[in-house]
This record gives sequence, C-alpha cells and structure tokens, in this order.
Amino acid sequence: MRLDIITIFPAMFTGLFDFSIIRRALDKGVAEIHLHDLRDHALNKYRNVDDYPYGGGAGMVMMAEPIVECISQLSNDRLYDEVIFLTPDGQLLDQGIANELSLKGNLILLCGHYKGVDERVREHYITRELSIGNYVLSGGELAAAVLVDSIVRLIPGVLGDESSALSDSFQDGLLSPPVYTRPADYKGWKVPDILLSGHEAKIREWRIQQAIDRTKKRRPGLLEDKD
Ligand code: ADE
Repeated sequence: MRLDIITIFPAMFTGLFDFSIIRRALDKGVAEIHLHDLRDHALNKYRNVDDYPYGGGAGMVMMAEPIVECISQLSNDRLYDEVIFLTPDGQLLDQGIANELSLKGNLILLCGHYKGVDERVREHYITRELSIGNYVLSGGELAAAVLVDSIVRLIPGVLGDESSALSDSFQDGLLSPPVYTRPADYKGWKVPDILLSGHEAKIREWRIQQAIDRTKKRRPGLLEDKD
C-alpha cells in the first residue's frame, strides 16, 4: 500500500511512523508513506496556500489550486483508490472503515487547516471525508496519523500473529475481554481461576462472555451498532 499525505506541516509526522508495528510494515515494504508539503505547490513566492473567505467572516480558507495541483501530479503517476480529506465534519472513522481501507492499494490523505478547504475541492476531488472523533483538532495531521496507524496494522502480513488483529476490540463488534499475565497472585489480587485451568474451550467461552458483559456495561451502543 502507498499512502501519500498532503500537509502544510510535514514535520509533524517526524518520528510518528518510526516505531512498533508501523515501522515493521514500512521496513517490510508492505506500506510506503510519502509526505508532500502543500506549500511546494503554492502559486506565489510567499508560498501562500490560503486566502480570505468569499462573503467575509473569520479565518482563512485553503485554496483549491495548490491542492488540485498536488493531487493531479500524484495522479499522473498512478491510480488512486481514494482521496481522503480529514475533517471534523466527515464520516466517523471506525474499525469497519479501517478494515476496508487496509485492502486498498494507493491512498491520498489531505490534511485540512484554518477554516477548511475550498468546497470545490471537496466536491470534485475528494472521494471520502473522515473524522476521527467529535472534537476539533488544530489540523488534519494527527487525524491522518491515526488513520494511517489504524489501516497499516491491518494490511495482511503486517502483524506477526495474523489472528491478533482479528481479536482486537471492535473487530467482532465487541470490546476485548480482560487480560492478565504473571504473577497469578499480585498483592492478593488473583487472576481468575478459569484462565489457569488449561481448559481451552471453557476459557474461550469465558472470554466471549466477558467481552459481551464489558460491551453491555461500557459501550451498549456498540451492540446496537450505533456507538
Ligand atoms: N481536523 C480537525 N479535527 C478533526 C477531526 N476530529 N477528525 C479529522 N480531521 C480533523
């Protein structure tokens, strides 16, 4: 998978992809991440990429031309499956969307700033708009990083133990059951007997029940597919 991130702050991504599972995916060549400074596509020598909103009002708007220029240049070299705009008014990212995107080949991620992006870019170039939550960030960069992480770890071959992504919270619409490791007795707090029993079928059953109970208690909306 190739991910092209268009941003006015490429340096914000420094180090973010240098660790753990994402690092491994990049090292294996399963995923490539390319950063593009939108200012390289600015129309003037001041490298401006924003302008005042028509009709007045506070804040600046990201201009269409530099964005379109950058997207077009990338699209000349390869076909993109999606051009995704990170924005608080987009569709809420969830595990289902991450799963779907992890099967794609080439994605462009556009990070917004200021008051937003000229609507004509959204209408004519963006194929999907995603939000990572109902709160407003200073820009789309952190949202893009979250999206990249959620997708790349799911690309087949990235996780050592293939089944471990399948047992993540949300993969089956449930939260994960509690987990324990040694010691079996810590300060008198004991690991549930069932986990020490060696009885695989009973342990599986216990985990499923715990996942259901936990989901009912903490995130009941998930069981109705709306939380
Ligand atoms: N840009 C600013 N806030 C955002 C959010 N919550 N999700 C995605 N992009 C954003």
